[in-house]
Amino acid sequence: MAALDLLVIGSGVSGLSAAVRASSAHRLRVGVITKGQLHQTTTRWAQGGVAAVLGGTDDPDSTDLHLADTLAAGAGLCDIDAVRVLVDEGPRRVSELIAMGAIFDRNVEGDYLKAREGGHSEARILHSRGDATGAEIERALVVAVHDTAASLVEHAFADSLLMDNDRCVGVRYQNSSGALFEMEAKNVLLAAGGAGQLYSVTTNPVEATGDGIAMALSVGAALGDVEFVQFHPTALHHEAMPRPLLSEALRGHGALLRDTNGDRFVDELQPRDVVSRAMMRTMLQQGVEHLYLDATGLEDFAIRFPTIHRSLEIVGLDARTDLLPIAPAAHYTCGGVITDMRGATTVPGLWAAGEVACSGVHGANRLASNSLLEGMVFGPRAVDAIAAGGVPAQPSGAMRTVLTPHDARVRGARLDPPPLPVWGSVDTDPVALRGKVQAAMTRGAGVLRDASSLAETAAALEELMGHVPAADSDPAWLEIRNLIIMGRAVVSAAANRTESRGAHTREDFPETSDDWMLRQVMVRA
Ligand code: SIN
Repeated sequence: MAALDLLVIGSGVSGLSAAVRASSAHRLRVGVITKGQLHQTTTRWAQGGVAAVLGGTDDPDSTDLHLADTLAAGAGLCDIDAVRVLVDEGPRRVSELIAMGAIFDRNVEGDYLKAREGGHSEARILHSRGDATGAEIERALVVAVHDTAASLVEHAFADSLLMDNDRCVGVRYQNSSGALFEMEAKNVLLAAGGAGQLYSVTTNPVEATGDGIAMALSVGAALGDVEFVQFHPTALHHEAMPRPLLSEALRGHGALLRDTNGDRFVDELQPRDVVSRAMMRTMLQQGVEHLYLDATGLEDFAIRFPTIHRSLEIVGLDARTDLLPIAPAAHYTCGGVITDMRGATTVPGLWAAGEVACSGVHGANRLASNSLLEGMVFGPRAVDAIAAGGVPAQPSGAMRTVLTPHDARVRGARLDPPPLPVWGSVDTDPVALRGKVQAAMTRGAGVLRDASSLAETAAALEELMGHVPAADSDPAWLEIRNLIIMGRAVVSAAANRTESRGAHTREDFPETSDDWMLRQVMVRA
């Protein structure tokens, strides 16, 4: 069989938007492989919505305001041109998605309903079935990709990228029975999501183990911003995993945060990093494991937030009368594989989009509801660039920090990745080992960090590496390897950044420093 023009790894919003565009707009032969079922992705769990300024005669909002809010949340590390692309091209991509069949909520006059979330100066979040936006987008894209892609392979665990000299030419994967296959392609787009599973408490599904980032690092792709792991402030404090999310849109509608005394302690509409930090400090001061979200004043809760209403009902809570127990949970990997503004990585033939990538749009902290938007803008941009000839990475977006590291906007500084991992002997229980990795990361590299907590986590990861069997290619072990590779990268970048900025808070370096107005670029020589 002839090589595909494009092989997409991952089936969330960025991967499927790219696949659909590749075949429908450019007639490329495209294949998609995904680890679980096509719809089983982090995208499906996104509640709040898509931030996009659709415009309208009496709308006080503008793409300039959306840009300004994104830059403010990103705490000095966003690439302004990449953010401009995000906010300007986003509305067109939303319209295309609507044309494809995605349904967003409207009022009786037919106007789209817009919500506000933390860090947004205006109500601009489009949503679907109240709080099921990701599920609706995934549904529409899955239907479209079934009609267009040449090849769709579910339950395919990608374990390595195929290289021909310096060029990526495909992927090796195993199916659910462990049989190995190679799929060749002229171009490979990583759209494999983030690594929320690094932490014991996360809103991410079990599949989010940083596989794409780990594979990219191993073939020499540059990573950036990996120290910035975003914690969502209002995950329900409950044993269910992934943690049920209590969308930021609740605060946008007026829900309040309360401490154990019932007092408010932070402006609820600040960006997520500010709110999560305030919560962690309050929890430590009060010696408690959770605080409360007070949504008792919200009208028509069950109608506006049906998904959340159902998950509360399951655990016996009623938002109309109960204070809802909440604690921060790992939510989003702000950094990843560095790309230019067209998704090109430093490895020819390898492209990246969405949470796996570091395109420059999120900087040190992603603005709420910019993630679905990023996927639908940057996945298709990579495809357009491939169709136009796939020229190598250019100095634009986050790639500037690799190719023109002295750029005054955001400088780049090289950081060696941790030494190559040395795996060990057989540990019979991958589930227990995964739990130990998560516990180490949660203890020392979470919302609040310092030099000694990071050193302890680094030592714990080195020790746990010795329990991972070198020769076992069971996906459960491959996921642990990827988590450890990603965890070591996060800890090393976090230990090196001796300041606090965005989602990276060092208790021993609480100030933001102009000297650190730079992106740490990690690349294996
Ligand atoms: C939320 O609804 O709070 C999550 C949306 C996001 O992660 O941007």
